[in-house]
Amino acid sequence: MYKIVSIPGDGIGPEVVAGAVAVLEQLSKKHGFEILIEEHPFGGASYELHGEMLTQATLDACRKCDAVLLGAVGGPKWESLPHEHKPEAALLKIRKELELFANLRPAKVYDALLDASSLKADVVRGTDFLVFRELTGGIYFGQPRGFDESRGWNTMVYERYEVERIARLAFEAARKRKGKVISIDKANVLEVSQFWRNVVHELHKEFADVELSDMYVDNAAMQIVRNPKQFDVIVTSNLFGDILSDIAGMITGSLGMLPSASIGTKHALYEPIHGSAPDIAGQNKANPIATIASVAMMFEHSFNLPDIAREIEQAIEATLASGLRTADIATNAGDPVISTTEMTEAIVRHLGA
Ligand SMILES: NC(=O)c1ccc[n+]([C@@H]2O[C@H](COP(=O)([O-])OP(=O)(O)OC[C@H]3O[C@@H](n4cnc5c(N)ncnc54)[C@H](O)[C@@H]3O)[C@@H](O)[C@H]2O)c1
Repeated sequence: MYKIVSIPGDGIGPEVVAGAVAVLEQLSKKHGFEILIEEHPFGGASYELHGEMLTQATLDACRKCDAVLLGAVGGPKWESLPHEHKPEAALLKIRKELELFANLRPAKVYDALLDASSLKADVVRGTDFLVFRELTGGIYFGQPRGFDESRGWNTMVYERYEVERIARLAFEAARKRKGKVISIDKANVLEVSQFWRNVVHELHKEFADVELSDMYVDNAAMQIVRNPKQFDVIVTSNLFGDILSDIAGMITGSLGMLPSASIGTKHALYEPIHGSAPDIAGQNKANPIATIASVAMMFEHSFNLPDIAREIEQAIEATLASGLRTADIATNAGDPVISTTEMTEAIVRHLGA
């Protein structure tokens, strides 16, 4: 039995999470395992009910389950709140509280969606890599930080254990993929990057079967758009990963296609990378694929059932190959546009009974 906490959140969050739940229910029927889904409020939805974006009850539930499925949070209604009450602060808090130190973002180009990329089809065809971004350390959390009238300052700091644990995950993932890790840093300028590089190379001795190379972050930004096929697994720090994973994501097409996993030693949270899309919320227009693909990552990384992850990915691929498109990925004039629920139903159908 798998116990999943679902936190749909705001805007299109509930619509896309409903799609993911339908997929989970179908898989449970098909394979005969039990899935217990417990829903909890988060973000604006929680603020309206309880006066806070993240309640202790939601946090406790996330600590007790096998995996968390998150939709999206935020929207215009809560933008004017003070920073510490904003949805973004609740997102940072949940990641920190659950010690989700690794953010995984696949950049996979579907053949059926080659036209959706901003790059030429020949450049992106066959792209399939995975970015491991360190999520709870580095410059976003380092002390001292602050600003006064004459200067502003932040501190980029990494402890050995922080580098080791994310590099270990990246090496392990590479073993199950094409066996190639590229560690991205700025070791020509930053001492913290020299340290990062040393620690990654020391750990590499345990993973001699995996190929390791280093790349400076500025070159990496170029290489991802020049020749994305050269990458298999990327491992990098919080700040560099924040930027590179967005570049990597966008070359594959729409925001509505991109899943993510945030993993710690004890807990894991799966969510699409997009936000709550207030412009289309409540209209049954959102693309549920990013959230459904996040469920595939859940089966791979939390439940250690890679075959079921592949089943979900194949159902998504077959649905796209059949020509079905939500509005965000309907790139050709004349593509019939379907709704969130129709896309969900098509993927569930392709999963089979
Ligand atoms: N992790 C999160 O929960 C998260 C992440 C980013 C933004 N946000 C919040 O979401 C709100 C809106 O932010 P934004 O507009 O910058 O980003 P967004 O990702 O919500 O939307 C950007 C654009 O992409 C479209 N889009 C996004 N997801 C889509 C989907 N599944 N299907 C079809 N189209 C989709 C939207 O309609 C919009 O035009 C803000 O309040 C922001 O703070 C939350």
